[in-house]
Amino acid sequence: MNAHSKIPDIALDLNPAPVPEADRNRLMESLGFGKVFTDHMVTIRWTRDGGWQDAKVTARKPLSIDPAAAVLHYAQEIFEGMKAYRNDDGRVLLFRPEENARRFNESARRMAMPEVPEELFIKAVEELVRVDRAWIPSGDASLYLRPFMFATEAFLGVRPSDEYVFCIIASPVGAYFKGGAKAVSVWVETHYTRAANGGTGAAKCGGNYAGSLVAQAEAYKHSCDQVVFLDASEHRWIEELGGMNVFFVMKDGSMVTPPLKGTILPGITRKSILTLARERGITVDERPYSFEEWQSDAKSGRLVEAFACGTAAVLAGIGTVRHADGEFLIGDGQTGALTTSLREELVNIQKGMSNDSHGWSHPVGA
Ligand code: PLP
Ligand code: COI
Repeated sequence: MNAHSKIPDIALDLNPAPVPEADRNRLMESLGFGKVFTDHMVTIRWTRDGGWQDAKVTARKPLSIDPAAAVLHYAQEIFEGMKAYRNDDGRVLLFRPEENARRFNESARRMAMPEVPEELFIKAVEELVRVDRAWIPSGDASLYLRPFMFATEAFLGVRPSDEYVFCIIASPVGAYFKGGAKAVSVWVETHYTRAANGGTGAAKCGGNYAGSLVAQAEAYKHSCDQVVFLDASEHRWIEELGGMNVFFVMKDGSMVTPPLKGTILPGITRKSILTLARERGITVDERPYSFEEWQSDAKSGRLVEAFACGTAAVLAGIGTVRHADGEFLIGDGQTGALTTSLREELVNIQKGMSNDSHGWSHPVGA
């Protein structure tokens, strides 16, 4: 085993002044998304000569980096999003964490960054979940985990950094959208695009999100919750939302979702929904679906539901679609029946409330 693949032990240097229980309970009373943070974080350093080292759980605190750190100039950064759930009998479960570990390393390869051994990724996530166990909400809320890695070498030349930090923070979260389970509205962006062939669209790198923000701002300007991106070459084919994949439900019971061609994020929720829908006997086509088709199918009634899906949002019905030339509703503008039932089936698995026949639940022991 060389230095680069060795799994370091993770030292525990616990927060001497964690948030008092009463304050924690108050903070967790009305959770939105990503504003409340737990007492601890994980950091692990990597150097080209020494590999992964100095792994520890510490009090959550500001990071100190050199102003010339490569991430601040050339955005060499990737991240993941996953959740820990507390079920009714008190067990703590992660959902398909090995998928996040695998995708993290796909992102790392695309961004010329070192891979985090899957075993280390999962061990570090488990360690943080164990230490911050008191922050895992019950009921509909969960603990959102944000593993990320960034380039720390102080060097202004443009080349892959020789030093990185892998970090994990955690945030108890409720619904991603302010309206809770209400159908969301989306803005179809026909000018700005998110990713082109050969680009970084399939990687979960911060730069993809930085480039999407001007379009997300347009969405807010048009009172929409999310932006829908079209493909970069023809501005015609639906790709995905700013932070979610998208599915369309037809009147004949079939479903359509854009294919993975390297320009969209291969969502773990998307992959899970494909499995659950196909097990129900639903035909799901992974095929290009155009914005023209979307408009005409909504008008003719051939399309009855559409939903966004991702770790943060789970499944969210799309009710209203707005664009430069007008707007239209999907069905009656409310979350559809199939969206609701697939969401319920997925959430029940994630929370350990139904039989885990796929082996997707990953218990975290005390
Ligand atoms: N697409 C984008 C751009 C995302 O940010 C996300 C969220 O992580 C997804 C899709 C859905 O991916 P997942 O279901 O793995 O969370
Ligand atoms: C996630 O679902 O984990 C994401 O990264 C998307 C973002 C909207 C928070």
